[in-house]
Amino acid sequence: MKRIGILTSGGDAPGMNACIRAAVRAAIANDAEILGINSGFSGLIENDIHNLDRRTVANIIHLGGTILGTSRSPEFRTLEGRKKAFSVLEKHGLEGLIIIGGEGSFQGGSLLQDECGVKIIGIPGTIDNDVYGTDITIGFDTAVNCALEAIDRIRDTALSHQRLFFVEVMGRHTGFIALESGIGGGAEELIIPENAMDTEELSSRLQRSFSLGKKSAIVAVAEAGRPGHSVDLAKEVERRTGFETKVCILGHLQRGGSPTALDRILASKLGVAAVNALVEGKSGLMAGEIDNKIAFTPIQETWERQKALDSELRDLLGVLCD
Ligand code: F6P
Repeated sequence: MKRIGILTSGGDAPGMNACIRAAVRAAIANDAEILGINSGFSGLIENDIHNLDRRTVANIIHLGGTILGTSRSPEFRTLEGRKKAFSVLEKHGLEGLIIIGGEGSFQGGSLLQDECGVKIIGIPGTIDNDVYGTDITIGFDTAVNCALEAIDRIRDTALSHQRLFFVEVMGRHTGFIALESGIGGGAEELIIPENAMDTEELSSRLQRSFSLGKKSAIVAVAEAGRPGHSVDLAKEVERRTGFETKVCILGHLQRGGSPTALDRILASKLGVAAVNALVEGKSGLMAGEIDNKIAFTPIQETWERQKALDSELRDLLGVLCD
């Protein structure tokens, strides 16, 4: 394989730049050329492509976001759009494509592979950590630490004013960020889609905690497809309990920022593994990490199978919350 394309797709995630840097340097080490595609699949369709060399990826390892830019491309979801994308790949003589993104991006890439024959390797890059085939996705650790810092800061105010706080974190369909930042931040309760709890139960659990002497509490809430829903949740709990509630929605604050060491190292390992796999002629796989080892998973499994939340970690909250 002599020419490889690389793009980032879907929500940006801290560590994507470290991954691009690693892939570029691994390609050069394999005597392959690597081209950067701007703005994800939209940029591929638009032929927004440029050469990447050692120097273009210098001094980016510590930067959040993605130097290539990203998008969620509706046009790429159409056969017409993917045909345009393939003609651009052919024009540049690109034999393989590295896609850094989440399961939606992998689905698009997989269609391109099946319809047009281009070789693809996925790398899991999303703060949500909701990709099967890897213990952790690029960006998750940074986002968890950002949410954790927010919870710590909010705890100061919760304690000083004796208040009940709802901190809403990201996670489109899953509670990974809420669970880890909630456990790490000592949250009293957790509202995540994997473990539904209605407001009646939440209210009575909080009432019980306060009756045991608690003066303040933090509920970590996963956004779960309804950004801002913690406002209604808090109102309902306030109505039921009479406790004063406050809501803090972290939103996009937790998606940017300099990646943690863990994210940079993971991204570097996966970037190199993906290039090596393409050079060896592999395709239709995602490079992830399982039990601290690089693991390749058939790409369709990444969206067909559901990554389970760590149930032991979830159960810890029941023990720790009082
Ligand atoms: O997938 C990452 C994520 O940040 C989700 O947690 C969130 O639901 C979604 O992206 C928001 O996407 P956008 O930035 O396009 O609104």
